[in-house]
Amino acid sequence: MSSAASTEKPLSVAAVAAELGQLSRRFDLEVMAECDSTNARLLLQAESGAPSGRVLAALRQTAGRGRRGRSWFSGADDSLTFSLLWRPPPDAALAGLSLAVGVALARAFEGLGLPGIALKWPNDVLLSGRKLAGVLIELASGARPQAVVIGIGINLRRPPDLPEDLKLTAAALADLGLPLPTASALLARVLEALSEVLARFAAEGFSSVRDQWLEKHALQGCAVRLLSDFAEPLEGFCRGVDSDGALLLATAAGTQRVISGEVTLRPA
Ligand code: BTN
Repeated sequence: MSSAASTEKPLSVAAVAAELGQLSRRFDLEVMAECDSTNARLLLQAESGAPSGRVLAALRQTAGRGRRGRSWFSGADDSLTFSLLWRPPPDAALAGLSLAVGVALARAFEGLGLPGIALKWPNDVLLSGRKLAGVLIELASGARPQAVVIGIGINLRRPPDLPEDLKLTAAALADLGLPLPTASALLARVLEALSEVLARFAAEGFSSVRDQWLEKHALQGCAVRLLSDFAEPLEGFCRGVDSDGALLLATAAGTQRVISGEVTLRPA
C-alpha cells in the first residue's frame, strides 16, 4: 500500500501544539511510545481528578479496546490512537455523543481535503464502505464531576501484519492515494473539530449536529440487519436518526427506535 512520507513523521506534542495555535491551551497532551490502552489509562486518570482536555496518545497500544468488548488492532506507526478526557456540564444528556464525535471526525477529514468519508451508526467512520476509524466512549466510574473518555483510533496505513479478518473490512487514509497529513496535523484538526462539536453538544445536545450526521449517513434508506446483545436480530430500512441519536429503523411492525446494537447491510 502506498503512503506519503509525511505521515511517517512521529506524533509530537510540540508539532500538535504548533498546529493548534491558541487552542493548544485547552488541551494537555501526552504522547506515549507504548501503552496498553489510552482509554484504560485515561479512565484511571479521570478517576484521580485529571481535568477536561487531557489527551493521551500512544504510538502503539498493546491492549487497545474496541466496542462491545472487542479488541482494537492498530499497527505501530500506522494509526493514530488517542483518548480525550471530557467533563461535560453537570446533568448534560449524553445520548448521541458518539455520533457527535463522528461528525467531528468527518469535519476534520474534510477540512484536510480527504474526501469520501461516511458515518455508520452508531460510531463508525467509513471510507469506501470500510472502517477507517472507530470511537469508544467510556464513562469514568464515580468521577465527580462526571468524566467521559472519548477514545479514537484512525487507520493511517495498512500495517503489514493486519489480521486476515480485517483485510476486507478495514480502510486506511493511504487508500485514498493522496498526500496525507502528518499524524500531528491530523490530531490537531480532530481536536479542533471536537472542541467545536463538544461545545455545541454541551449546550444543545445531539440535535445540534443531527443534520450534519445525516448528511454523511452511509446507510440512509438501506436494507439492514440489526444485531444486538439483548434481542433477536431485527431487519428493516434505515430511516436516519432521532434527535437523541437513536437509529430509526422501518420494520414490518412499524418504525422502531434503536439505542444499541450494530447494523450490517442486508445482501440485495
Ligand atoms: C470500535 O470498536 O470501533 C472502537 C475502537 C476505538 C479504538 C480507540 S484507539 C484509542 C482508544 N484506546 C482504546 O483502547 N480504544 C480507543
